Order: sequence, then structure tokens, then C-alpha cells
Amino acid sequence: MSAFNRRSTAEQVTEGLDLSGKTILITGVNSGLGYESMRVLAMRGAHIIGCARTIEKALEACDSVDGQTTAIACELSDPASVNQCADTVIAMGTPIDVLLCNAGIMALMEHQKAHGLEMQFLTNHIGHFLLIQRLLGLLQEAGKSRVVLTSSGGHTHTVAGGIDFANLSGDNQYDAWKFYGQSKLANILCANGIASRYKDRGITANSVHPGVIQTNLARNAGGLMTKVIQLFAPLFSRSIAQGAATQCYLAVNPECESISGEYFADCNPAKPSKYALDKGLANRLWERSEKIIAEFDG
Ligand SMILES: NC(=O)c1ccc[n+]([C@@H]2O[C@H](COP(=O)([O-])OP(=O)(O)OC[C@H]3O[C@@H](n4cnc5c(N)ncnc54)[C@H](OP(=O)(O)O)[C@@H]3O)[C@@H](O)[C@H]2O)c1
Repeated sequence: MSAFNRRSTAEQVTEGLDLSGKTILITGVNSGLGYESMRVLAMRGAHIIGCARTIEKALEACDSVDGQTTAIACELSDPASVNQCADTVIAMGTPIDVLLCNAGIMALMEHQKAHGLEMQFLTNHIGHFLLIQRLLGLLQEAGKSRVVLTSSGGHTHTVAGGIDFANLSGDNQYDAWKFYGQSKLANILCANGIASRYKDRGITANSVHPGVIQTNLARNAGGLMTKVIQLFAPLFSRSIAQGAATQCYLAVNPECESISGEYFADCNPAKPSKYALDKGLANRLWERSEKIIAEFDG
């Protein structure tokens, strides 16, 4: 068990670390947990490649923190944008020590899709899956590197079977919260897939439940469940500084160097759902995700 807990902040879990010489790519740096993670990790000396949906948002966020940052546009629901981001990073030629897949959307009340996929699955999982695949070479070049995927406790509230492979478009049936849960389950399964596939390349991967934090995340959510969450959230929510702690801990703390294939909450290992531990489901999702990104090229 680590010395940190639900009250620890991103600054506390990185205190005393000198991250100079490290390169860390973070998605979703213009808001919430991504912004705080960038601020703190840059303050500790890392070079942050800060990604946001547009270059304007990325530049504004990167320019507002102290330290070395490089702003890049990465719209996760647009494979062309993800590929362009990856091309830019590959052209920089810098090995990636940490890839923090933080960006996300939650509980879109209206069913939205692009490229034949439901928008939360596309943005939260497939966009990151594509980015990770494209940057594998740079992760490997770092010698020892870490992939951290920001999941959610919400992964437990998902569709029947965990991932509904017959309805990834959401056309047959759509439930905003269950599709959020499905995408966040996919984040955990993806981390576990990386952990098992790439350990020989020196790449570790873990997933995170950051806690309940009042950020911009709920802006698309509505309905009864959202009202219930909003009513009770003040009782158990924590600050953005605390919300960014677990992902920053896994990203850079030396204690986590050899930890891989774990799900963390409150800066400690936690137990995810039975679907999250299902290796068969993880393999099936991996193969389907590979097929989906291969079809983007076609
Ligand atoms: N806050 C919580 O209570 C909580 C709980 C569990 C898990 N999480 C997870 O924590 C992560 C960070 O969320 P947050 O709370 O910090 O929310 P947030 O303040 O809304 O930040 C989300 C970030 O993701 C970006 N993003 C959204 N759609 C994107 C897309 N298509 N392409 C690229 N970037 C995109 C947003 O950009 P724009 O601002 O441009 O939209 C923003 O930078 C998410 O993965 C979320 O699921 C949060």
C-alpha cells in the first residue's frame, strides 16, 4: 500500500521528483484533471506534449503553465487528427516516457456517432487506442515507459456483456451512462492488453479511477442519474488537485515503475468489475479495435 490516499494531491505524489529529461504526452490538457496533471508534471521538470482538440486550446493551456511544453492538436473522435498528432510527435523524434490518456467525454444525452461508432466509445477508447498504437515505437525507445489511461468507477455501469460488440454504433439501443461505462471499461481492458502484450518492450500500462471531481465533465450529462449524482457529489467529491493525484502517481512516481496491468483509485490498487478482469473480453476488444483502426486507413 502506498503512503498516499484519497486526500493526496498531484503535487504531493510528485514531491521531490526531478523529471527533467522526461517527455510526457497528455491528452485533454485544456481542462480539469489533464490541465492539473500538465501543470504539476511540468513544474517537476518534464517536457509536456500537451494535446487538446484544437491547437488554439492546446496553446492557451500550455502557455499558461510554467515549464517546457509543446502544444499539439488532437481531436480524438477524428482519426485524421489523431494521426496528424502522432505524425507531429514522431517527427519530433523524442522518446515518450509517459503517455497519459486523460481526455474524455461523459454521458452524452443525445446519441452521437462518427465513423460508424458511438461517440464516447470512439473518443474515450478508439481515439486513444489509435494514438497509443502510433506511438508504440517512441514508447519503446524510452527504454522504460508508462501508459496511464484515465478510466472511471463508472465502468461498472455498462451494457450487457460489458462491451456490446454487436452495437458499437449505438444504433440498436443507446443509454448515455451505460455507453460511458462501456467506454471506461474499454480503457481498463486496453491498459490490461498493453500490459500483457508489451511487457517485453519495457512498456507498463495501468488504469485509474480519479474519484469524483467537479470539472467540466458533466456539461453534456442530463437526466435523473445526473441529478442524483449532482445532489450527492458534494458529499464525496474532491478537489481537482486531488483528482489528478492517482494518474500523476502512476505516471511518474518511482514506486510504480514496475506496476503494470493494475486498476488504481486513491493512489492504491483497487478492484475493478469482473468484466475488467476478463482476459477473453480484453482480447476480443483488442482485436476489434485493431480492425476498426485498420479500416480508418482503408
Ligand atoms: N471528473 C470526474 O469526476 C471523473 C470521474 C471519473 C473519471 N473521470 C475521467 O477523467 C478524465 C478527465 O476528465 P475531467 O474530469 O478533467 O473532465 P473535463 O474537465 O471535461 O476535461 C476533459 C478533457 O477531455 C477533452 N476532450 C473531450 N473530448 C475530446 C475529444 N474528442 N478529443 C480530444 N479531447 C477531448 C476536453 O476538451 P474540451 O474542453 O475541448 O472539450 C478536456 O480537455 C476523463 O477521461 C473522465 O472520464 C473524471
